[in-house]
Amino acid sequence: MMMNYNENQNHLILGYDLDCWNTFHEKKPISIDLSPKTNSHILFCGMSGSGKSYLENAIFAKLAIMEPHGTIFFADYKGDDSFSYLLDCPRHYFYTNTLSALDIVHNRLLARQSGQDSSRNPITLIWDEYMAQVLSLMYTDKKLASIVMSKVSEILLLGRSLSVRLIMSMQRPDAVAFPAGSRLNYGVVVILGAAVKSIYEMLLPDFREEIKGRKFNRGEGVVLLQGSELHFIKVPIVLNEKRMRQICINALNDSCRPSSEA
Ligand SMILES: Nc1ncnc2c1ncn2[C@@H]1O[C@H](COP(=O)(O)OP(=O)(O)O)[C@@H](O)[C@H]1O
Ligand SMILES: [Mg+2]
Repeated sequence: MMMNYNENQNHLILGYDLDCWNTFHEKKPISIDLSPKTNSHILFCGMSGSGKSYLENAIFAKLAIMEPHGTIFFADYKGDDSFSYLLDCPRHYFYTNTLSALDIVHNRLLARQSGQDSSRNPITLIWDEYMAQVLSLMYTDKKLASIVMSKVSEILLLGRSLSVRLIMSMQRPDAVAFPAGSRLNYGVVVILGAAVKSIYEMLLPDFREEIKGRKFNRGEGVVLLQGSELHFIKVPIVLNEKRMRQICINALNDSCRPSSEA
């Protein structure tokens, strides 16, 4: 069954315009469109400590509220402290088990693509430190690394119209990990923290002038929407962390949401 998408209901606030925040103490939202009209695959990049996992938690909770009929899977390669509260949840996948989450989500994509599954309720796989896992696999099991990269690329390329979404964090999204140019399918690219020139060159080659001379602290950075719209962002502090965590726990818990991965 197709979801009925309402314009406003589909806009998730990622953060606030950094210059308005710093200059006028004004909260001007920077939001993203979650409807299947646009690519809502999200890429978070930045060095360690730049605030990727913090933002991931916040976006996870917002997504869970906005898409009550969606299914979220959480892949936590490093077992980061930021996500330890999710450890007992059924759809939390730790370390190499993250590959099981990928298999489930990829199989759902194929079932939808083949027409075997006509449902279009949103399926989201959130994957923290994806690149670290792929780089490690490249050393230990090249063949498996290549299978993983192909599946991820297929989701990036086909996911939009089939309502299957990836939200991934990594330090540097090197092109080698994204066959068939699939990296271009991240409709939302967020680069947090201190400027690393090579990441900007890689992801924002057309925006050198706009970015030149800018400095970003933890929880601040650059956002590129749909490959064309550039913003500078401030990620606010989560005011009620306990509530945020409970929302995320519920979202990964079969008993609290309609399950759609069976
Ligand atoms: N926007 C923010 N506001 C306040 N604290 C933040 C923000 N982003 C990150 N932090 C804090 O900074 C530290 C590093 O953030 P983290 O998300 O773990 O970085 P990364 O995942 O990029 O390594 C954590 O202690 C986190 O709580
Ligand atoms: Mg992290």
